[in-house]
Amino acid sequence: AGNKLWGGRFSGSTDPIMEMLNASISYDQRLSEVDIQGSMAYAKALEKSGILSKTELEKILSGLEKISEEWSKGVFVLKQTDEDIHTANERRLKELIGDVAGKLHTGRSRNDQVVTDLKLFMKNSLSVISTHLLRLTETLVERAATEIDVILPGYTHLQKAQPIRWSQFLLSHAVALTRDSERLGEVKRRINVLPLGSLNSMDAVSERDFVVEFLSVATLLMIHLSKMAEDLIIYSTSEFGFLTLSDAYSTGSSLMPQKKNPDSLELIRSKAGRVFGRLAAMLMVLKGLPSTYNKDLQEDKEAVFDVVDTLNAVLQVATGVISTLQINKENMERALSPEMLATDLALYLVRKGIPFRQAHVASGKAIQLSETKGITINHLSLEDLQNISPLFGSDVAQVFSVVSSVEQYTAAGGTAKSSVSAQIEQLRELLKRL
Ligand code: ARG
Repeated sequence: AGNKLWGGRFSGSTDPIMEMLNASISYDQRLSEVDIQGSMAYAKALEKSGILSKTELEKILSGLEKISEEWSKGVFVLKQTDEDIHTANERRLKELIGDVAGKLHTGRSRNDQVVTDLKLFMKNSLSVISTHLLRLTETLVERAATEIDVILPGYTHLQKAQPIRWSQFLLSHAVALTRDSERLGEVKRRINVLPLGSLNSMDAVSERDFVVEFLSVATLLMIHLSKMAEDLIIYSTSEFGFLTLSDAYSTGSSLMPQKKNPDSLELIRSKAGRVFGRLAAMLMVLKGLPSTYNKDLQEDKEAVFDVVDTLNAVLQVATGVISTLQINKENMERALSPEMLATDLALYLVRKGIPFRQAHVASGKAIQLSETKGITINHLSLEDLQNISPLFGSDVAQVFSVVSSVEQYTAAGGTAKSSVSAQIEQLRELLKRL
């Protein structure tokens, strides 16, 4: 252990498997750039407080500059003893500028470095993720604007409920994503607090709230995407036939030549499980830790890197899926069976002045009668309807139109064209501010 940064008090060497378990360099080299940025800022602070002379600072800065170049060119050579990114960069700095490199670590620990590095890394990563998320949300909103006249069944319990505009469906997912954008923004604000010289030194080196918050926000975002993926998978089955995924986001079967599988959506759905697994693992690591830094915290980085990479990929694939899928209007319309207008039939009676609860019973009776007669509800005769309620008149025929059905919900958030257009405008405005 003599050649290690911390080797002074050691005489025996580290067990090789322990060394492997302990080393984080294989993955934390992703922090190389932010580690150097942090060190540069720290060196300047050391000069200000008189620990480094001007010439020493310049030496350190130019050495760090050189190391940054080596990393970006991919020529930084790792050594067996480089336990993590902090030791690797410091070892290299000493090789380049000599013993003065040893002054850089005055008053700081790797525990300060690692939390600073991770926050810097996450600050940058969250900006990229937010951009991809905005792109996806915009894609949903713009598609909703283009296809506003398409009507299909809305479902609850996966049973046909009432007719809706296809845009209402697209926007329901867009709205959820705007909350995820807001949450990401809030996490970003808390990540953007410098741990060096912060409020309390013991808290600063050990708190990983920002990691847990990010993983939680990421999990909820993934759950939204999983829900959307599941809807689209169902709609793309030949039984529904509402939409066809583009070849770019589908795969075939090695056995059955006819198959076109929605693997992109299945991957999105499965990655939700993966991301939640990272959150659960991190919470388990933190649970029961005593105060300040413990090596357990080293687990934070793989969780963050994996979730950052997963979100970036998933968001871009989801945007691709949404922007390229084709809808099949005829199949959507065909699925709009007349019993989906039973609520409208009840509302017709409400407009004639009877309480909704009674109107609901009357419409239910009409459904029951149509089932016994083996016809659809719109084919019941006026006489049949009047036997159920004398308030039915010849104008009841106009109830059986899916367009009138969606058009009657003009309140904010409703399915009428005016309401959906208003939602689109609100979302466009919101997206400008996110
Ligand atoms: N690689 C370590 C981590 O990821 C850096 C901090 C090591 N500190 C220590 N005292 N062993 O957390």
